[in-house]
Amino acid sequence: MKVEDVKFVKDYIKVTYDAWLKGWHERNGGNLSYRIAEDEIKDIKGELDENSEFTPIEVSVPNLANEYFLVTGSGKYMRNVILDPEANIGIVRIDGKGEKYKIVWGLLDGARPTSEFASHLMSHSVKKEITGGKNRVIYHSHTTNLIALTFVLPLDSKVFTRELWEMATECPVVFPSGVGVVPWMVPGGKAIAEETSKLMKEFDVVIWAHHGTFAAGDTLDLAFGLMDTAEKSAEILVKVLSMGGKRQTITADNFRDLAKEFNVTLPEKFLYK
Ligand code: 13P
Ligand code: ZN
Repeated sequence: MKVEDVKFVKDYIKVTYDAWLKGWHERNGGNLSYRIAEDEIKDIKGELDENSEFTPIEVSVPNLANEYFLVTGSGKYMRNVILDPEANIGIVRIDGKGEKYKIVWGLLDGARPTSEFASHLMSHSVKKEITGGKNRVIYHSHTTNLIALTFVLPLDSKVFTRELWEMATECPVVFPSGVGVVPWMVPGGKAIAEETSKLMKEFDVVIWAHHGTFAAGDTLDLAFGLMDTAEKSAEILVKVLSMGGKRQTITADNFRDLAKEFNVTLPEKFLYK
């Protein structure tokens, strides 16, 4: 079967196009990686070229040794993935130590994985460990309203979590552990990858101040849905602030009632007065 025709690749491409339509991916902004399951790789083994050279990934992720990832190319446009998958995305395999990768399909004409590959892999490493292998997706986008809020709200996880929860009743159910915030940092390197992956131990959503958002999910749908929910909430907050701010809201006790009813645990640190 051709790589483009298998289900996980089709699902991945759908997300890249849906995400483009959301307006979160100007030019080459944003990137998406999917840790491919063993049985999914089996179906396309014959299509993969394992003869390419290994390249260092600048971070060490031993628990991802020999894993395969589907990933967007650096400098590639989300909107173009659907038009020419083989040129804009690729499958890479991690080496036996978790320190190098090689391209086994796609990323034609010298293309490379996203410049945020270190952040993706370190986040995958943390999430694989704490979810017992369930988490498969790391997704970075340039969500307009979440970025806007990083110019106005204190860059504090407690404030961002509480404000986003208050803007839509279902938010605490969708991201009960809250959101993490990384202060402005130079993108594309090991330092921001380390900060992001530290926060991924606690959160599934990590906001990069003045830049964008990282979301983690077990499936492509869950990661995309999480990004969509957090960004929608941010959009409501931007509107509320533009209308002069809240006159009434959901209270801390309301959230406690919600948590009981929906059977989720909401950390008390976000339910301050
Ligand atoms: P890439 O084109 O290398 O994926 O970079 C886009 C981006 O959003 C960097 O943060
Ligand atoms: Zn970015």
